[in-house]
Amino acid sequence: MAVGIFDSGLGGLTVLDAAMKRLPEVPFVYYGDNAHTPYGVRDSEDIYELTTAGVSRLFEAGCDLVILACNTAAAVALRRMQESWVPSDKRVLGVFVPLIEALTERQWGDNSPPREVAVKEVALFATPATVSSRAFQRELAFRAIGVDVEAQPCGGVVDAIEDGDMILAEALVRSHVEALQRRMAKPQAAILGCTHYPLMEKEFQEALGADVKVYSQANLVAESLADYLTRRPEMVGTGTESLFLTTGDPARVTNKATQFMRRKMDFISA
Ligand code: DGL
Repeated sequence: MAVGIFDSGLGGLTVLDAAMKRLPEVPFVYYGDNAHTPYGVRDSEDIYELTTAGVSRLFEAGCDLVILACNTAAAVALRRMQESWVPSDKRVLGVFVPLIEALTERQWGDNSPPREVAVKEVALFATPATVSSRAFQRELAFRAIGVDVEAQPCGGVVDAIEDGDMILAEALVRSHVEALQRRMAKPQAAILGCTHYPLMEKEFQEALGADVKVYSQANLVAESLADYLTRRPEMVGTGTESLFLTTGDPARVTNKATQFMRRKMDFISA
């Protein structure tokens, strides 16, 4: 058994990397649906079908706990999966909540009514599907009041990263930040609401300026996973083997992942 990490492609590696560093004793099984990336331009039904197929494969690989390290899948499919699909002995968790807890300075499990928080103007950068789901605003409204969220759908960034075209990705980041700034000139905080974007964190920070606090998910999710496993140690099991699965071309994904993670990662066909 192991903990499963799911993403539409390479973005979840940012979460995997942080999780492996935080929990070196835990075996992880990664599933990248590189054959179907990007999810951010697909419709809800499609995202639900692809996500449940990937998570089923992770259950088969012995994972009782799966992290959807894909905001798009979490925003569009997670609630439906938790309500009617996830077996009672398994858990599937998303990546929004740790981020919102950090933004609103709340502790895990703090279910008190929403209250005013320090941050008032927040920029959200995410895929078109995540932005139109409004899942971020919905989760935020459970915890905070008086926060103005301006969301920017960042079309093309995931495709450019998956294609390894970092020059295009950088140009797109700059133009998406400019588009956002035309509607919200001075956000106090910016949320990188897609697990691919930490790979461009420096570019987001430069385009936004040093006085904007950029929240990115990898470390927050790793910390929250460590906390979860302290409370639910039975969810990890006893396995020792990490495994990296892709629906895409294993040689190509191995190459890209090794480049991003700066360590050799051998992907095999899912
Ligand atoms: N990493 C995924 C996310 O966090 C990217 C989604 C996509 O494939 O467009 O949203």
